[in-house]
Amino acid sequence: MKITIVGTGYVGLVTGTTFAEIGHDVLCVDNDTSKIDKLESGIMPIYEEGLEEMVLANVKAGRLKFSTSVAEGTAFAEVIFIAVGTPPGYQGEANMSYVESVGREVAEHMTSYRLLVEKSTVIVNTNEQLTRTMNKYLKADIPFDIASNPEFLREGTAIKDAFKPDRVVVGVESDRAGDLLREIYAPIVEKSGCEYLQMDIASAELTKHASNSFLAMKISFINAVSRICELTGADITQVAHGMGLDARIGEHFLKAGVGYGGSCFPKDVDAFVRMGDEVGYRLDLLKEVQSINKQQREHVMRKLKQEMWVLQNKRVAIFGLAFKPGTDDIRESPSLYFVPQLQEQKASLCLWDPIAREKFNEEFPGLDYNDDLLECAKDADVLLILTDWPEIRELDLAALKDSMRCPIVVDGRNVFDAQAMDAQGFTYHSVGRP
Ligand SMILES: NC(=O)c1ccc[n+]([C@@H]2O[C@H](COP(=O)([O-])OP(=O)(O)OC[C@H]3O[C@@H](n4cnc5c(N)ncnc54)[C@H](O)[C@@H]3O)[C@@H](O)[C@H]2O)c1
Repeated sequence: MKITIVGTGYVGLVTGTTFAEIGHDVLCVDNDTSKIDKLESGIMPIYEEGLEEMVLANVKAGRLKFSTSVAEGTAFAEVIFIAVGTPPGYQGEANMSYVESVGREVAEHMTSYRLLVEKSTVIVNTNEQLTRTMNKYLKADIPFDIASNPEFLREGTAIKDAFKPDRVVVGVESDRAGDLLREIYAPIVEKSGCEYLQMDIASAELTKHASNSFLAMKISFINAVSRICELTGADITQVAHGMGLDARIGEHFLKAGVGYGGSCFPKDVDAFVRMGDEVGYRLDLLKEVQSINKQQREHVMRKLKQEMWVLQNKRVAIFGLAFKPGTDDIRESPSLYFVPQLQEQKASLCLWDPIAREKFNEEFPGLDYNDDLLECAKDADVLLILTDWPEIRELDLAALKDSMRCPIVVDGRNVFDAQAMDAQGFTYHSVGRP
C-alpha cells in the first residue's frame, strides 16, 4: 500500500521505515529541510539501533522516499499518518498546533478520499477537532476519515518494538478506515502474533495517555518506596524484586533512580492532568507522580551536595546524558537538571555518553567530554551516574577507583552492586539501598 507519514522524527522515521520494510510504499514528509536533506544524503538525523541499515536498504529498494511537502504527501497516498510533535504548551497542556497544521494542509490539498491517522500522542477527542478543521479547509465536499493509532515504541528498542509490538491499538469510526489500517498492519500482526485491538477513536486516544501515565506512576511509586527504604534500612532492589514477581504487579518499571525523563512521560502526564482538569476530573494522583519525580532529582542532588560540601572547583565526572540507554534523545533528561546546577556551583565537569554527546553539546556548548569512561573519571572528586548505559556496569571497579582523585560515586541509577563498591573502597551513594 502507499502510505504517507508527516513528521519524520523518532516515531515517524521508525514507523515509515518499518512500513517500507514490510513492503509498503512510503513517503516520509518533514518541514525541517535540514532533516530531509540529511536523510536524502543517507545521514540519520537521530540514533536508533538498526535504523540506519534499514533506512538505507529501503531507500535503495525504492520503497522509502522523503519530501518536505505535505501537498506532495497528500497526493502520494490515501492513508496519511500524522507523527509530528505534541510538545507541552505554556501551561503543560499538549500543544496541538503541529497536528492541526497538518490537518489543515491535508484538507487544502486533497482531491479524493483520505484517511488521516493520528499517530502522534494526542488528547482524547482530538479527532473531533481535527474533523472540524478538515471540514473548514476542504476545497470541496470530499470524503475523509480520521483514525487513531497511538504509538507505543520505546526509544532504544524502537525497531524491535515496531516489528514485535505488545499490541496494535487502532481507533476507527468507519469500516473503510478499519479495513485500510488492518491491511497496513497485517504483515506485522501475522508475523509477531500480537493483539490487534480495534476500538472507538476516543478510547484509542485515551489508551496512550493512560498507558504512559500508568508507567510514570509505577516509577514514582517505586521511587517513593525507595525513600522509605532509605529511612528504614531496607533495600529497594530486593523490595522491587519481591513485588515484581507478583504477576499482577510485574517487574518492569520498578527500578528506583533519579526519576523519569524523555520526550514522552513528563509531557504526557502533564497533558493528561490538564485534560482531566478541563473535563472536570482532578487527576491529583498524577500530580503526586509528578511531584515525586521532581523530588527524586532534588534528593540525588542533595546527596551529592551533602557528600561534597562545596562543589566549587570540584571535578565532577558525569556518566550518561541521554534520558535512557540506547538513544541520543536528551529531551527532559535528568542531565538537563544536573548540569546547569553544577555549572552554577562552579564545579568543573567532564561528561561521558556514547551517543548523546552531540545533541547535548548543541544545548550546552563548550563543556569537556571524554569518550573513554576511565579518562572521563580521571582525577574526579566525585562521579555522578545519570544513565544506566551497559558500558558503565562493565567497568573495572579497581581501575575506576585508581583513576579518580576521591573514590566517591553518586549513582542515580543503581548501576553498581553496593557491596562490591564498598569492598573496593568507594564511598557509594545510590537510591534506596543501604
Ligand atoms: N519519541 C517517542 O519515543 C515516542 C513514542 C510514542 C509516541 N510518541 C509521540 O509521537 C509524536 C512524535 O514524537 P517524536 O519523538 O517522533 O517527535 P520528533 O520531534 O522527533 O519528530 C516530530 C517531527 O515532526 C516534524 N514536523 C512538525 N510539524 C510539521 C509539519 N507541519 N509538517 C511536517 N513535519 C512537521 C518536526 O520537524 C519533527 O521532525 C509525539 O506526539 C510523541 O508524543 C513519541
